[in-house]
Amino acid sequence: MLRTHTCGQLRPTDIDQTVTLSGWVHRRRDHGGLIFIDLRDRWGLTQIVLDPAVNAAAHSAAERVRSEWVLQVTGQVVARKQGMENADMATGAIELMVADLTVLNQAITPPFELDTDTDIREDLRLKYRYLDLRKARLQKNLKLRHDMTRVIRDYFDQHQFLEIETPIMVKGTPEGSREYLVPSRLHHGCFYVLPQSPQQLKQLLMVGGIDRYFQIARCFRDEDLRGDRQPEFTQFEIEMSFVDEEDVLTVIEDCFHALTRACAPHKDWESYLVDGRFRRLTWQQCMETYGSDKPDLRFDMPLTDVSDIVTDSGFSVFANALKSGGTVRALRCPAGGQLSRKEIDQLTDTAKKHGAKGLAYIIVEADGSLRSPIVKFMSEEETSAIIQRTGAQSGDAIFFGADEFITACESLGAVRSALGDHFGLKDPNQFAYLWVTQFPLYEKKADGTLQAAHHPFTRPLEEDLPYLDSDLLRVRAHAYDVVLNGVELGGGSLRIHDPVLQQRIFTLLGMGDEEIEQKFGHLINAFKYGCPPHGGCAMGLDRVVMLFADEPNIREVIAFPKNQSAQDLMLGSPAPMPAPELAEQNIQVIPADDL
Ligand code: AMO
Ligand code: AMP
Repeated sequence: MLRTHTCGQLRPTDIDQTVTLSGWVHRRRDHGGLIFIDLRDRWGLTQIVLDPAVNAAAHSAAERVRSEWVLQVTGQVVARKQGMENADMATGAIELMVADLTVLNQAITPPFELDTDTDIREDLRLKYRYLDLRKARLQKNLKLRHDMTRVIRDYFDQHQFLEIETPIMVKGTPEGSREYLVPSRLHHGCFYVLPQSPQQLKQLLMVGGIDRYFQIARCFRDEDLRGDRQPEFTQFEIEMSFVDEEDVLTVIEDCFHALTRACAPHKDWESYLVDGRFRRLTWQQCMETYGSDKPDLRFDMPLTDVSDIVTDSGFSVFANALKSGGTVRALRCPAGGQLSRKEIDQLTDTAKKHGAKGLAYIIVEADGSLRSPIVKFMSEEETSAIIQRTGAQSGDAIFFGADEFITACESLGAVRSALGDHFGLKDPNQFAYLWVTQFPLYEKKADGTLQAAHHPFTRPLEEDLPYLDSDLLRVRAHAYDVVLNGVELGGGSLRIHDPVLQQRIFTLLGMGDEEIEQKFGHLINAFKYGCPPHGGCAMGLDRVVMLFADEPNIREVIAFPKNQSAQDLMLGSPAPMPAPELAEQNIQVIPADDL
C-alpha cells in the first residue's frame, strides 16, 4: 500500500504517530520558510507541512509541486498550533509534519480550478469529466448513488426477489421510444436492438417461474433529451407473480420508505403521508385537480371546473369550447394580482407550449374591482359565481383554460407549476410522494391515432373491459406511477397474462395478425404455456438519486453522462466509423445531402 491512512482519517488521537498519506495537491501555500499543502483524496483533506529544518530536500521538492500533482508523504502527526485549528475540516485539529516526500506524478494545469465552487461551463466539465469527478459535488453524489443502490439491493433481497441479468442485445420491444440498433455481422441485413427496458424479458421470467425478479438494469432510448432524460439510464425494476395491484404498490412503497429513512433522513416526507402511506390519486383526479399526471403536492393551488357557469358566456372562447365538447377550468392563484404584465405574458407562453390557445385571466383588485381582458364580455353573475367557486380573494388572480379536457387541464397545470416556482412554493426540504393510479389504457397521439398509454402489455380494469368494444379512450388500466415533487420516479402495471386478450389489445392498436406474430409471437406463445397473473414496476434510478441529492438534472448523478445532444464529449461519441469496419458489418453510409 502506498499509504497507511486516507486524507480524511487522522484525528488528535493519532498525534505522534508516523503515517504515510497519498493524494492530490488540492491547494498549496508558500509562507516563505514553511510550505502548507492540503492533500486530497476521496475521503477528505489533510494539511501537510514542509519545514526546511525537518527535511530540506522534501521542502525544496515541495517548492516545485503544483495543483493536482500526486504526492506520497510520510511524517509525524502533530497538533495544529493553537488558534490554527480548522473546525470546518474533519482533520482540522492536526497536520502532518513531512519527513519524506515522493512525487508520484505531475499534472499539467487543469482546464478549470478544482478547489473552488465557481460555476464552470458544462461542456468543459463533461469533456474533462475525470477532473470534474475529483470535485466534492460529484464525489458526494456518486457515494449517495452507491449507498442508495445498496439499500435497494438489500431491500429486494430481503423480500425474496432474485436479481437476474437480462440481455442487452435484444429484439425491439415497442414501448413508445425510438430504439438504438446494433448491426449483426453474421446475419446480413439484421439488427439487434438495445432494450428500452427489460419489459418482455421480465414477463417471460414470470412464465419461467422466477416469481419475484429484480434488476438494476441499463435501458436505452433514442428520444429527445431533457434534464431528467438520458439516452442510456438505469432502472431498478421488479416483476412479481400471483399479485394484485396492492401487492406491487406495497412492495415499491416500502422500498421508498426504506430509501428515504436511510438516505434522506433530513427531508420532511412523513407529514405528506396519509395513515402512514403515500397519498393516492387516480389519474382522473390528478388531471382535474392539478392539471398534471405528476403533480407537485408540496403546494396545493387546485384547478376548478367552471364550465357550468360559463355555458352561455358572452366570451365566445368559453362558450365555443363547451359547444365543441370541451371544458373550461379555472386556477386561482393567491396573491396573483402582484404579477406584472410581462410575467402574465410569460405564463401565457407556458400555457401555449402545452397546447392552449391563450390564457384568459381575472385579477381581483384590493377594492374588489376586476382587472381583466375578458370581463367586458361577461355578465356580473358569471364573474361573481366564478369568484365564489374558486374562492378568490382581493389580490388574487384567476387563470382560465378553455379547450379539450386534457389540453385545458394540462396547460393550467403547467401554469400552476410555474406559479409554484415564481412564488417559492417548492420547498426543497419537503418530499411529497404520491401514487397516481388508474391511468387510461390508451391515449391519442398528435396524429389522432391511438397508442398504449403505458405499454401494450398493461391489463385493463376488469370493469372497463366492455369499453374495449365501444369507447377505447374510456378504458382505464391497472397502471400506476410513483411521483415525487412533480417528477415521475417510476411506473408499472399489472400485465395481461391471457393470450387472447393480449392479441386483442395489439389488434386494437392497429396491428395485423402477421405483424403481431412477427413482433410478439414469442410472448403470446409463452402465455399459452401457463402464465401466472403478474405485474411489476420500474423506477428511474438516476431520477431518484437526483432528487435525493437535490440536483437539478440527472447528469449530476451519472459518472459519465451524455450531453443534451446525446454526445459523450469526453470519449467523442458518437463518431464516424472507418470504412473497412462498416464494410465488415455490411453497412454503407449515405451522405446526408443525398437523403
Ligand atoms: P417507463 O417507460 O415509465 O416504464 O420507465 C420507468 C421509469 O424510468 C425512468 N426513465 C428515464 N430516466 C432517465 N432517462 C430516460 N430517458 C428515461 N425514460 C424513463 C423514469 C420512468 O418513470 N417497462 C416499464 C416499467 C414496467 O411496466 O414495469 C417502463 O420502462 O423514471
Ligand atoms: P382573444 O379573444 O383571442 O383576444 O383572447 C382574449 C383573452 O382570452 C386573452 O387573454 C387570451 O389569452 C385568452 N384566451 C384565448 N383563447 C383561450 C382559451 N382557449 N383558453 C383560455 N384563454 C384563452
